[in-house]
Amino acid sequence: MSARRLLRGPVLRPGRLGFAALGLVAALTTRPVETHPRISTTLLWHRDIAPILQRRCFACHSPNNVAFSLTTFSEARPWAAAIREEVLTRRMPPWSAVAGYGRFQNDPGLTQGEWDLLVAWVDGGAPSGQTLDEEAQAPVFVAEMPTWEHGEPDLVLAASAPTAVPAGAPDEVRRFEIQTPFARAQRVHGIAFKPGERRVVRHASVYEAGRKRWLFSWTPWAPAMHLPEGVAYTLPAGATLILEIGYHGAEEAVSDTSEVGLYLDDAASGAVATTMAVEAAATDLPAGARPTRIRGEAVLDAAAGLQAVHPQLGPGARSLELTAHLPDGSVRPLLWLRDYRADWPSPYVYTDPVALPRGTRLVMTAYEANPGDTAVKARPRLDLVRVPPTASTF
Ligand code: HEC
Repeated sequence: MSARRLLRGPVLRPGRLGFAALGLVAALTTRPVETHPRISTTLLWHRDIAPILQRRCFACHSPNNVAFSLTTFSEARPWAAAIREEVLTRRMPPWSAVAGYGRFQNDPGLTQGEWDLLVAWVDGGAPSGQTLDEEAQAPVFVAEMPTWEHGEPDLVLAASAPTAVPAGAPDEVRRFEIQTPFARAQRVHGIAFKPGERRVVRHASVYEAGRKRWLFSWTPWAPAMHLPEGVAYTLPAGATLILEIGYHGAEEAVSDTSEVGLYLDDAASGAVATTMAVEAAATDLPAGARPTRIRGEAVLDAAAGLQAVHPQLGPGARSLELTAHLPDGSVRPLLWLRDYRADWPSPYVYTDPVALPRGTRLVMTAYEANPGDTAVKARPRLDLVRVPPTASTF
Protein backbone atom coordinates (compact mmCIF):
# COMPACT_ATOMS: atom_id res chain seq x y z
CA MET A 1 0.00 0.00 0.00
CA SER A 2 1.46 3.36 -0.97
CA ALA A 3 1.75 6.37 1.32
CA ARG A 4 -0.70 8.14 -0.94
CA ARG A 5 -3.27 5.45 -0.39
CA LEU A 6 -2.83 5.73 3.37
CA LEU A 7 -3.34 9.46 3.19
CA ARG A 8 -6.27 9.59 0.82
CA GLY A 9 -7.18 6.02 1.38
CA PRO A 10 -10.39 4.11 1.75
CA VAL A 11 -12.87 5.56 4.19
CA LEU A 12 -14.05 3.50 7.15
CA ARG A 13 -16.93 1.36 6.04
CA PRO A 14 -18.76 -0.17 8.97
CA GLY A 15 -21.81 -0.92 6.81
CA ARG A 16 -22.31 -4.54 7.71
CA LEU A 17 -20.87 -4.67 11.21
CA GLY A 18 -24.26 -4.40 12.86
CA PHE A 19 -25.35 -1.90 15.47
CA ALA A 20 -23.56 -3.44 18.42
CA ALA A 21 -20.23 -3.43 16.62
CA LEU A 22 -20.93 0.04 15.30
CA GLY A 23 -21.53 1.33 18.78
CA LEU A 24 -18.29 -0.28 19.91
CA VAL A 25 -16.33 1.26 17.03
CA ALA A 26 -17.92 4.62 17.75
CA ALA A 27 -17.07 4.32 21.43
CA LEU A 28 -13.45 3.36 20.73
CA THR A 29 -12.73 6.07 18.17
CA THR A 30 -13.62 9.70 17.99
CA ARG A 31 -13.48 9.66 14.17
CA PRO A 32 -16.73 10.24 12.34
CA VAL A 33 -18.15 6.94 11.18
CA GLU A 34 -19.59 6.76 7.68
CA THR A 35 -23.13 5.43 7.81
CA HIS A 36 -24.41 3.03 5.19
CA PRO A 37 -25.36 5.21 2.23
CA ARG A 38 -28.89 5.16 0.84
CA ILE A 39 -29.08 3.06 -2.27
CA SER A 40 -30.78 4.92 -5.09
CA THR A 41 -29.57 2.98 -8.12
CA THR A 42 -30.42 -0.37 -9.69
CA LEU A 43 -26.82 -0.69 -10.95
CA LEU A 44 -24.90 -3.47 -9.22
CA TRP A 45 -21.17 -4.07 -8.79
CA HIS A 46 -21.16 -7.72 -9.82
CA ARG A 47 -23.36 -7.29 -12.89
CA ASP A 48 -22.75 -3.77 -14.22
CA ILE A 49 -19.55 -2.34 -12.79
CA ALA A 50 -16.95 -5.14 -12.45
CA PRO A 51 -17.10 -5.90 -16.21
CA ILE A 52 -16.25 -2.24 -16.97
CA LEU A 53 -13.30 -2.24 -14.59
CA GLN A 54 -12.24 -5.59 -16.06
CA ARG A 55 -11.94 -3.94 -19.49
CA ARG A 56 -10.47 -0.63 -18.34
CA CYS A 57 -8.72 -0.92 -14.99
CA PHE A 58 -7.67 -4.46 -13.98
CA ALA A 59 -4.71 -4.40 -16.38
CA CYS A 60 -3.11 -2.34 -13.56
CA HIS A 61 -5.45 -2.56 -10.52
CA SER A 62 -5.28 -6.29 -9.72
CA PRO A 63 -3.29 -8.50 -7.32
CA ASN A 64 0.50 -8.46 -7.87
CA ASN A 65 0.25 -5.60 -10.29
CA VAL A 66 1.43 -1.97 -10.60
CA ALA A 67 -1.49 -0.47 -8.66
CA PHE A 68 -3.63 -1.56 -5.68
CA SER A 69 -6.26 -4.17 -6.46
CA LEU A 70 -9.84 -3.16 -7.24
CA THR A 71 -11.03 -6.57 -8.40
CA THR A 72 -13.46 -7.39 -5.58
CA PHE A 73 -16.28 -5.32 -4.13
CA SER A 74 -14.56 -5.32 -0.72
CA GLU A 75 -11.48 -3.76 -2.30
CA ALA A 76 -13.28 -1.36 -4.65
CA ARG A 77 -16.08 -0.04 -2.40
CA PRO A 78 -13.82 2.05 -0.12
CA TRP A 79 -12.40 3.69 -3.26
CA ALA A 80 -15.82 4.49 -4.81
CA ALA A 81 -15.57 8.25 -4.30
CA ALA A 82 -11.97 8.29 -5.57
CA ILE A 83 -12.96 6.19 -8.61
CA ARG A 84 -15.68 8.73 -9.41
CA GLU A 85 -13.22 11.60 -9.12
CA GLU A 86 -10.51 9.90 -11.18
CA VAL A 87 -12.87 9.07 -14.05
CA LEU A 88 -14.65 12.46 -13.96
CA THR A 89 -11.33 14.28 -14.23
CA ARG A 90 -10.17 11.66 -16.76
CA ARG A 91 -6.94 11.02 -14.85
CA MET A 92 -7.75 7.29 -14.94
CA PRO A 93 -7.11 5.34 -17.02
CA PRO A 94 -3.94 7.29 -17.92
CA TRP A 95 -4.22 8.20 -21.61
CA SER A 96 -3.33 11.60 -23.01
CA ALA A 97 -5.06 11.65 -26.42
CA VAL A 98 -8.04 13.99 -26.71
CA ALA A 99 -11.10 12.06 -27.91
CA GLY A 100 -12.20 12.87 -31.45
CA TYR A 101 -8.69 13.44 -32.89
CA GLY A 102 -7.95 10.05 -34.44
CA ARG A 103 -9.35 6.63 -33.47
CA PHE A 104 -6.90 4.32 -31.74
CA GLN A 105 -7.05 0.57 -31.23
CA ASN A 106 -5.08 0.85 -27.95
CA ASP A 107 -7.32 3.58 -26.46
CA PRO A 108 -8.15 2.46 -22.89
CA GLY A 109 -10.53 5.39 -22.31
CA LEU A 110 -14.03 4.79 -20.98
CA THR A 111 -16.86 5.11 -23.48
CA GLN A 112 -19.53 7.66 -22.59
CA GLY A 113 -21.82 4.77 -21.64
CA GLU A 114 -19.27 3.15 -19.31
CA TRP A 115 -18.48 6.52 -17.77
CA ASP A 116 -22.17 7.25 -17.12
CA LEU A 117 -22.66 3.84 -15.46
CA LEU A 118 -19.64 4.23 -13.14
CA VAL A 119 -20.66 7.68 -11.98
CA ALA A 120 -24.33 6.72 -11.53
CA TRP A 121 -23.31 3.63 -9.51
CA VAL A 122 -21.15 5.68 -7.13
CA ASP A 123 -23.78 8.44 -6.82
CA GLY A 124 -26.43 5.82 -6.15
CA GLY A 125 -24.59 4.43 -3.11
CA ALA A 126 -22.36 1.84 -4.86
CA PRO A 127 -24.26 -1.39 -4.05
CA SER A 128 -22.75 -4.82 -4.65
CA GLY A 129 -25.81 -7.05 -5.22
CA GLN A 130 -23.75 -9.82 -3.61
CA THR A 131 -23.65 -11.71 -0.34
CA LEU A 132 -20.92 -10.80 2.12
CA ASP A 133 -18.89 -13.89 1.09
CA GLU A 134 -19.17 -13.05 -2.58
CA GLU A 135 -18.02 -9.49 -1.96
CA ALA A 136 -14.51 -10.81 -1.28
CA GLN A 137 -14.34 -12.57 -4.66
CA ALA A 138 -13.90 -11.03 -8.10
CA PRO A 139 -17.12 -11.60 -10.08
CA VAL A 140 -15.20 -11.52 -13.40
CA PHE A 141 -12.03 -13.15 -14.73
CA VAL A 142 -8.80 -11.54 -13.56
CA ALA A 143 -5.45 -12.82 -14.87
CA GLU A 144 -3.25 -13.72 -11.90
CA MET A 145 -0.04 -13.88 -13.90
CA PRO A 146 1.13 -12.11 -17.03
CA THR A 147 0.19 -14.11 -20.14
CA TRP A 148 0.61 -13.76 -23.89
CA GLU A 149 -2.83 -12.23 -24.23
CA HIS A 150 -2.79 -12.31 -28.03
CA GLY A 151 -1.69 -15.96 -28.20
CA GLU A 152 1.69 -17.68 -27.97
CA PRO A 153 4.20 -15.89 -30.25
CA ASP A 154 6.19 -17.82 -32.87
CA LEU A 155 9.45 -16.69 -31.28
CA VAL A 156 10.08 -15.63 -27.67
CA LEU A 157 13.25 -13.68 -26.82
CA ALA A 158 14.44 -12.57 -23.37
CA ALA A 159 17.25 -10.47 -21.93
CA SER A 160 20.12 -12.78 -20.97
CA ALA A 161 20.02 -12.20 -17.19
CA PRO A 162 17.28 -11.26 -14.70
CA THR A 163 17.16 -7.61 -13.57
CA ALA A 164 17.13 -6.81 -9.86
CA VAL A 165 14.73 -4.00 -8.96
CA PRO A 166 15.30 -2.81 -5.36
CA ALA A 167 12.36 -2.04 -3.06
CA GLY A 168 11.04 1.48 -3.62
CA ALA A 169 13.42 2.15 -6.55
CA PRO A 170 12.59 5.39 -8.40
CA ASP A 171 11.57 5.34 -12.08
CA GLU A 172 14.39 4.05 -14.20
CA VAL A 173 14.65 2.93 -17.83
CA ARG A 174 16.99 -0.04 -18.41
CA ARG A 175 18.25 -1.06 -21.82
CA PHE A 176 18.89 -4.62 -23.07
CA GLU A 177 20.34 -5.90 -26.33
CA ILE A 178 18.65 -8.99 -27.71
CA GLN A 179 20.10 -11.01 -30.56
CA THR A 180 17.60 -12.52 -33.02
CA PRO A 181 18.43 -15.94 -34.51
CA PHE A 182 17.47 -14.98 -38.07
CA ALA A 183 19.77 -16.49 -40.72
CA ARG A 184 18.07 -14.44 -43.45
CA ALA A 185 15.75 -11.44 -43.63
CA GLN A 186 12.56 -12.17 -41.69
CA ARG A 187 9.05 -10.69 -41.95
CA VAL A 188 7.44 -9.90 -38.59
CA HIS A 189 3.74 -9.02 -38.53
CA GLY A 190 3.22 -8.60 -34.82
CA ILE A 191 5.20 -7.89 -31.64
CA ALA A 192 4.22 -8.49 -28.02
CA PHE A 193 5.85 -8.08 -24.63
CA LYS A 194 5.26 -10.02 -21.41
CA PRO A 195 6.49 -8.56 -18.13
CA GLY A 196 8.19 -11.05 -15.83
CA GLU A 197 7.25 -9.13 -12.65
CA ARG A 198 4.30 -6.89 -13.41
CA ARG A 199 4.53 -5.10 -10.05
CA VAL A 200 7.59 -3.19 -11.31
CA VAL A 201 7.27 -3.03 -15.12
CA ARG A 202 5.45 0.15 -16.22
CA HIS A 203 6.31 0.43 -19.90
CA ALA A 204 8.57 -1.13 -22.52
CA SER A 205 9.73 -0.36 -26.05
CA VAL A 206 11.40 -2.43 -28.76
CA TYR A 207 13.75 -0.89 -31.35
CA GLU A 208 15.77 -2.33 -34.22
CA ALA A 209 19.42 -1.55 -33.42
CA GLY A 210 20.88 -1.36 -36.93
CA ARG A 211 18.34 1.01 -38.50
CA LYS A 212 17.78 2.70 -35.13
CA ARG A 213 14.04 2.50 -35.59
CA TRP A 214 11.13 2.11 -33.22
CA LEU A 215 9.06 -1.05 -33.68
CA PHE A 216 6.69 -1.43 -30.73
CA SER A 217 5.84 -0.17 -27.25
CA TRP A 218 3.99 -2.05 -24.55
CA THR A 219 1.67 -0.61 -21.94
CA PRO A 220 -0.24 -2.67 -19.35
CA TRP A 221 -3.46 -2.23 -21.33
CA ALA A 222 -2.05 -2.97 -24.81
CA PRO A 223 0.10 -6.12 -24.72
CA ALA A 224 0.81 -6.46 -28.46
CA MET A 225 0.72 -4.64 -31.79
CA HIS A 226 -0.21 -6.31 -35.08
CA LEU A 227 0.27 -4.77 -38.51
CA PRO A 228 -2.66 -4.88 -40.96
CA GLU A 229 -3.34 -8.17 -42.78
CA GLY A 230 -0.50 -9.03 -45.18
CA VAL A 231 1.83 -6.25 -43.94
CA ALA A 232 5.05 -6.91 -41.98
CA TYR A 233 8.24 -5.28 -40.75
CA THR A 234 11.34 -6.83 -42.30
CA LEU A 235 14.25 -7.52 -39.99
CA PRO A 236 17.64 -8.27 -41.55
CA ALA A 237 19.61 -11.48 -40.93
CA GLY A 238 21.23 -11.38 -37.49
CA ALA A 239 19.16 -8.33 -36.43
CA THR A 240 19.71 -7.02 -32.90
CA LEU A 241 16.73 -5.67 -30.97
CA ILE A 242 17.02 -3.05 -28.26
CA LEU A 243 14.54 -3.55 -25.43
CA GLU A 244 13.96 -0.63 -23.06
CA ILE A 245 11.98 -1.33 -19.90
CA GLY A 246 10.65 1.36 -17.55
CA TYR A 247 10.83 0.07 -13.97
CA HIS A 248 9.29 1.51 -10.81
CA GLY A 249 10.24 -0.25 -7.54
CA ALA A 250 7.63 -2.23 -5.58
CA GLU A 251 7.42 -2.54 -1.78
CA GLU A 252 9.78 -5.53 -1.90
CA ALA A 253 12.93 -6.12 -3.92
CA VAL A 254 12.06 -8.25 -6.95
CA SER A 255 13.81 -9.71 -9.95
CA ASP A 256 12.37 -9.37 -13.45
CA THR A 257 12.85 -11.37 -16.63
CA SER A 258 10.55 -9.93 -19.23
CA GLU A 259 10.16 -11.35 -22.72
CA VAL A 260 9.57 -10.06 -26.26
CA GLY A 261 7.37 -12.18 -28.52
CA LEU A 262 7.45 -12.02 -32.31
CA TYR A 263 4.66 -13.17 -34.63
CA LEU A 264 6.38 -14.20 -37.85
CA ASP A 265 5.20 -14.06 -41.44
CA ASP A 266 7.07 -16.68 -43.41
CA ALA A 267 6.14 -15.36 -46.86
CA ALA A 268 9.26 -14.60 -48.89
CA SER A 269 7.93 -11.17 -49.86
CA GLY A 270 4.91 -8.93 -49.40
CA ALA A 271 3.77 -5.50 -48.22
CA VAL A 272 6.27 -3.87 -45.86
CA ALA A 273 5.76 -1.44 -42.99
CA THR A 274 8.41 1.29 -42.85
CA THR A 275 9.22 3.94 -40.29
CA MET A 276 10.04 7.64 -40.52
CA ALA A 277 10.55 10.38 -37.96
CA VAL A 278 9.28 13.91 -37.42
CA GLU A 279 11.92 15.76 -35.41
CA ALA A 280 12.52 19.25 -34.07
CA ALA A 281 15.90 20.95 -33.79
CA ALA A 282 17.26 20.87 -30.22
CA THR A 283 15.77 23.76 -28.26
CA ASP A 284 17.38 25.24 -25.14
CA LEU A 285 15.08 25.29 -22.13
CA PRO A 286 16.60 27.30 -19.27
CA ALA A 287 15.97 26.18 -15.67
CA GLY A 288 12.33 26.76 -14.73
CA ALA A 289 11.25 27.46 -18.35
CA ARG A 290 7.51 27.73 -18.87
CA PRO A 291 5.89 25.56 -21.58
CA THR A 292 7.65 26.48 -24.81
CA ARG A 293 6.40 25.81 -28.33
CA ILE A 294 8.69 23.57 -30.38
CA ARG A 295 7.93 22.64 -33.99
CA GLY A 296 9.20 20.08 -36.41
CA GLU A 297 8.00 18.71 -39.71
CA ALA A 298 8.58 16.06 -42.37
CA VAL A 299 7.18 15.46 -45.86
CA LEU A 300 5.82 12.12 -47.09
CA ASP A 301 7.87 11.05 -50.14
CA ALA A 302 5.19 8.50 -51.14
CA ALA A 303 1.50 7.90 -50.46
CA ALA A 304 1.11 5.92 -47.24
CA GLY A 305 -1.26 4.73 -44.55
CA LEU A 306 -0.25 6.10 -41.14
CA GLN A 307 -0.48 3.14 -38.76
CA ALA A 308 1.12 4.33 -35.52
CA VAL A 309 2.74 7.33 -33.83
CA HIS A 310 5.28 6.88 -31.05
CA PRO A 311 6.09 10.17 -29.26
CA GLN A 312 9.50 10.59 -27.64
CA LEU A 313 9.03 13.68 -25.51
CA GLY A 314 11.01 15.13 -22.61
CA PRO A 315 9.92 14.84 -18.97
CA GLY A 316 8.60 18.43 -19.09
CA ALA A 317 6.31 17.76 -22.08
CA ARG A 318 2.82 19.22 -21.66
CA SER A 319 1.08 18.76 -24.99
CA LEU A 320 1.58 17.66 -28.55
CA GLU A 321 -0.26 18.13 -31.83
CA LEU A 322 0.36 16.31 -35.09
CA THR A 323 -1.41 17.61 -38.18
CA ALA A 324 -1.31 16.61 -41.84
CA HIS A 325 -1.16 19.43 -44.39
CA LEU A 326 -2.31 17.81 -47.63
CA PRO A 327 -1.15 18.95 -51.07
CA ASP A 328 -4.73 20.18 -51.82
CA GLY A 329 -4.38 22.70 -48.98
CA SER A 330 -6.62 20.90 -46.48
CA VAL A 331 -5.45 20.26 -42.93
CA ARG A 332 -6.26 17.15 -40.90
CA PRO A 333 -5.58 16.74 -37.20
CA LEU A 334 -3.98 13.33 -36.61
CA LEU A 335 -3.24 13.35 -32.88
CA TRP A 336 -3.68 15.75 -29.98
CA LEU A 337 -2.16 14.98 -26.58
CA ARG A 338 -3.14 17.21 -23.68
CA ASP A 339 -2.03 17.02 -20.03
CA TYR A 340 0.67 14.67 -21.30
CA ARG A 341 1.44 11.81 -18.90
CA ALA A 342 5.19 11.29 -19.23
CA ASP A 343 4.93 8.52 -16.59
CA TRP A 344 2.72 6.40 -18.91
CA PRO A 345 4.28 6.72 -22.37
CA SER A 346 2.13 5.06 -24.99
CA PRO A 347 2.20 4.72 -28.75
CA TYR A 348 -0.97 5.73 -30.59
CA VAL A 349 -2.01 2.95 -32.97
CA TYR A 350 -4.78 3.85 -35.41
CA THR A 351 -7.78 1.54 -35.67
CA ASP A 352 -7.54 1.94 -39.45
CA PRO A 353 -4.40 3.35 -41.10
CA VAL A 354 -4.92 6.99 -42.11
CA ALA A 355 -4.42 7.32 -45.89
CA LEU A 356 -2.21 10.30 -46.79
CA PRO A 357 -1.08 11.32 -50.30
CA ARG A 358 2.49 11.86 -51.40
CA GLY A 359 3.72 15.36 -50.57
CA THR A 360 1.72 15.56 -47.31
CA ARG A 361 3.51 17.75 -44.76
CA LEU A 362 3.38 16.30 -41.23
CA VAL A 363 3.68 19.08 -38.68
CA MET A 364 4.44 18.43 -35.01
CA THR A 365 3.88 21.14 -32.40
CA ALA A 366 5.03 20.25 -28.89
CA TYR A 367 4.97 22.30 -25.71
CA GLU A 368 7.72 21.41 -23.26
CA ALA A 369 8.54 23.07 -19.94
CA ASN A 370 11.59 22.65 -17.73
CA PRO A 371 10.55 22.32 -14.10
CA GLY A 372 14.14 21.39 -13.14
CA ASP A 373 16.84 23.75 -11.86
CA THR A 374 19.39 23.14 -14.60
CA ALA A 375 19.11 24.07 -18.29
CA VAL A 376 18.16 21.22 -20.66
CA LYS A 377 17.83 20.73 -24.39
CA ALA A 378 14.40 19.62 -25.57
CA ARG A 379 14.25 17.55 -28.73
CA PRO A 380 10.74 16.16 -29.25
CA ARG A 381 10.53 13.42 -31.84
CA LEU A 382 7.78 11.27 -33.30
CA ASP A 383 8.41 7.86 -34.82
CA LEU A 384 5.78 7.03 -37.44
CA VAL A 385 4.93 3.63 -38.87
CA ARG A 386 3.76 3.71 -42.49
CA VAL A 387 1.96 0.91 -44.28
CA PRO A 388 1.02 0.74 -47.97
CA PRO A 389 -1.93 3.06 -48.64
CA THR A 390 -5.41 1.59 -48.26
CA ALA A 391 -8.86 3.17 -48.37
CA SER A 392 -9.02 5.66 -45.52
CA THR A 393 -11.79 5.50 -42.96
CA PHE A 394 -10.47 8.47 -40.97
C1 HEC B 1 -1.87 1.83 -16.68
C2 HEC B 1 -2.21 1.44 -15.37
C3 HEC B 1 -3.52 1.92 -14.78
C4 HEC B 1 -4.79 1.82 -15.32
C5 HEC B 1 -5.22 1.19 -16.63
C6 HEC B 1 -5.67 2.39 -14.33
N1 HEC B 1 -4.96 2.83 -13.25
FE1 HEC B 1 -5.71 3.73 -11.59
N2 HEC B 1 -3.83 3.99 -10.85
C7 HEC B 1 -2.67 3.48 -11.43
C8 HEC B 1 -1.55 3.77 -10.55
C9 HEC B 1 -0.11 3.33 -10.80
C10 HEC B 1 -2.06 4.49 -9.47
C11 HEC B 1 -1.30 5.00 -8.24
C12 HEC B 1 -1.35 3.80 -7.32
C13 HEC B 1 -0.69 3.85 -6.01
O1 HEC B 1 -0.36 4.92 -5.54
O2 HEC B 1 -0.54 2.72 -5.46
C14 HEC B 1 -3.50 4.60 -9.69
C15 HEC B 1 -4.37 5.25 -8.82
C16 HEC B 1 -5.74 5.18 -8.90
C17 HEC B 1 -6.66 5.70 -7.92
C18 HEC B 1 -6.28 6.42 -6.64
C19 HEC B 1 -6.11 7.88 -6.93
C20 HEC B 1 -5.82 8.59 -5.64
O3 HEC B 1 -6.78 9.08 -5.05
O4 HEC B 1 -4.65 8.62 -5.25
C21 HEC B 1 -7.92 5.40 -8.33
C22 HEC B 1 -9.24 5.71 -7.62
C23 HEC B 1 -7.80 4.71 -9.60
N3 HEC B 1 -6.46 4.60 -9.91
C24 HEC B 1 -8.86 4.26 -10.34
C25 HEC B 1 -8.74 3.69 -11.60
C26 HEC B 1 -9.87 3.31 -12.40
C27 HEC B 1 -11.35 3.43 -11.99
C28 HEC B 1 -9.37 2.81 -13.57
C29 HEC B 1 -10.15 2.29 -14.76
C30 HEC B 1 -11.20 3.16 -15.26
C31 HEC B 1 -7.92 2.89 -13.49
N4 HEC B 1 -7.58 3.43 -12.28
C32 HEC B 1 -7.05 2.46 -14.48
C33 HEC B 1 -2.58 2.81 -12.62
C34 HEC B 1 -3.65 2.55 -13.48
